[in-house]
Amino acid sequence: MAMTLVIGGTGNVGQVVVPGLLAAGQQVRVLTRDPTSEVARSQAEAGAAMVHGDLDDGASLDAALDGVDKVLVITTPTPQQKEQALAVIEAVKRSAPDAHFVRLSAMAPEPELDFELGRQHHEIDQAIKSSGLRWTILRPTFFMQNLIGAAGGVIADGNLYQPFKDGILPMIDIRDTADSFVAVLTGDGHEGKTYKLTGKEAIGMDRVAQALSKATGNHVTYVAVPTEAAEQSFIEAGYPEWVAHAFCELFEGFANNGLTRVSDGVEQLTDHSPRTVDDFATDFGEFFQAS
Ligand SMILES: NC(=O)c1ccc[n+]([C@@H]2O[C@H](COP(=O)([O-])OP(=O)(O)OC[C@H]3O[C@@H](n4cnc5c(N)ncnc54)[C@H](OP(=O)(O)O)[C@@H]3O)[C@@H](O)[C@H]2O)c1
Repeated sequence: MAMTLVIGGTGNVGQVVVPGLLAAGQQVRVLTRDPTSEVARSQAEAGAAMVHGDLDDGASLDAALDGVDKVLVITTPTPQQKEQALAVIEAVKRSAPDAHFVRLSAMAPEPELDFELGRQHHEIDQAIKSSGLRWTILRPTFFMQNLIGAAGGVIADGNLYQPFKDGILPMIDIRDTADSFVAVLTGDGHEGKTYKLTGKEAIGMDRVAQALSKATGNHVTYVAVPTEAAEQSFIEAGYPEWVAHAFCELFEGFANNGLTRVSDGVEQLTDHSPRTVDDFATDFGEFFQAS
């Protein structure tokens, strides 16, 4: 049975991928800085082997990579993201050179090198492609589940506050991203390939508000927030300034219709088409309602 190491397995995408891999009968090892966290403990109960490690500690990466056949690498958006991902590439070259390296990149507005997160992902993608390792890259666009961060406004006054102006984008349900990773990690023929992952259609925030209205039974209105105000809200919510700025650079690109093209990566990789915003609103509507 193949052994897969998941780096970033306790995060937003990892929390959906890990159960998918276990359900597919894979042996799963998850690297985490805190094996005692609630998520880590529940993944251990489900059958994953949790290993203590840190992207900034090369020896812990070498130990975690011992004997693995595949490694899924999910990093987190920080100023260190590129260096941390490059450190993983070097560790895999040292400790598991035959492993299949699968990476969560990002599909970004074009020109993608105009902003920090786009540059980071592009440079990491280039590094893996020239590493000599066996690799597959998945590039999803904006996750629908990010919208849960705006649920407070919907509950408080029925307004969905977002900095997307009248832009449209083919946002994707995180579950379709996870299904695509499980397909790559449990199937064959994906090496040396990059898959772009989007939803079925490019939609604007008015359409999201309509879906949430229908799912919750409460009228939801989209209110466009200026980018600077959104950046300030992220900082007030506790995000580091670098992250708040990087997110808002990205959102400005979406707001200006920098990414409207639909890709068929989900259909290519899985046995289903991408979930719609109505599916998302139905399944996550409770987050947008007062309890
Ligand atoms: N949000 C979107 O719409 C979107 C769309 C496309 C692409 N992306 C990309 O997706 C990636 C983020 O994915 P995500 O949201 O699933 O991740 P996430 O929730 O931000 O976190 C990923 C995991 O990284 C681990 N981690 C952080 N620092 C670490 C360190 N120093 N050493 C070891 N582990 C560390 C954490 O595990 P522990 O705390 O357990 O250690 C965490 O569970 C980013 O590269 C982003 O650009 C995001």
